[in-house]
Amino acid sequence: MSTAIITGGGKRVGQSISLFLATLGYNIIITYKDSLSEAEKTKIEVEKSGRKCHLIKCDLSDISDVRTLIEYSYSIENDVSLLINNASVFNKNDLKDTTDNQLLENYYVNFFSPYILTRDFANVIQKGTIINIIDSKAEKNGFKYSAYTLSKKSLFDLTYQSAVELGPDIRVNGIAPGFVLAPENDDADYFARLSENNPLHKSCSLDDINNSIKYILTNTFVTGQIMYLDGGKHLVTGE
Ligand SMILES: NC(=O)c1ccc[n+]([C@@H]2O[C@H](COP(=O)([O-])OP(=O)(O)OC[C@H]3O[C@@H](n4cnc5c(N)ncnc54)[C@H](OP(=O)(O)O)[C@@H]3O)[C@@H](O)[C@H]2O)c1
Repeated sequence: MSTAIITGGGKRVGQSISLFLATLGYNIIITYKDSLSEAEKTKIEVEKSGRKCHLIKCDLSDISDVRTLIEYSYSIENDVSLLINNASVFNKNDLKDTTDNQLLENYYVNFFSPYILTRDFANVIQKGTIINIIDSKAEKNGFKYSAYTLSKKSLFDLTYQSAVELGPDIRVNGIAPGFVLAPENDDADYFARLSENNPLHKSCSLDDINNSIKYILTNTFVTGQIMYLDGGKHLVTGE
């Protein structure tokens, strides 16, 4: 048996990953900030599959919270072998309209915390697998999402850098989805139309993400890879 930490694992994409990993036999540690009730529902579902599930409140924009997460997780389950850096903030603003706080929050949640968790995983747990959930959008430069895109570009590079530094004991890979789920409070129809704007004319499913996680877990010679799950969109010029 082994334990996986999933940041933001209580809802949406993170919830799907938590439930999938439980079916693979992992005990689950979910971090949340605001979504306690969703995390509690996910915990009940994980436990139905016979696995343990712990919920840890952790504000990933607060370095003092982030610094304690890996040690604390290891103290409650000493067989942690997998970290999924899934949580993120997503600001639509372009560069002109990005506030200082938005810039900092994007970097804290989307880049600094995965960096610190990767460092602490390497120092405390020392062996296992890290998977960063990135975004195929960050392969290029769009007309907005400035701070989000730049922080996710850094996460691409962290994936490559840490794969090089942390082998052979730790493999680090990334998954870069295209459209998966419409952002909360967003226009779902508009999102659905945009999401099919790729060579395969469909959006990324939660199963597509979980299948890629399984691929990364089972192919033990794979490190430093980022799998684009965007129907080939990152190859296409224009928006
Ligand atoms: N949805 C898509 O179509 C899509 C497309 C491409 C890439 N992705 C990537 O896939 C991943 C999951 O996407 P999603 O749409 O499921 O994300 P989401 O709905 O935006 O969920 C974000 C998660 O991050 C957590 N989070 C945000 N700020 C936090 C903070 N300061 N401290 C701790 N946790 C924080 C939230 O926890 P609380 O609610 O508990 O605060 C939530 O669980 C993200 O990395 C995203 O960039 C998603």
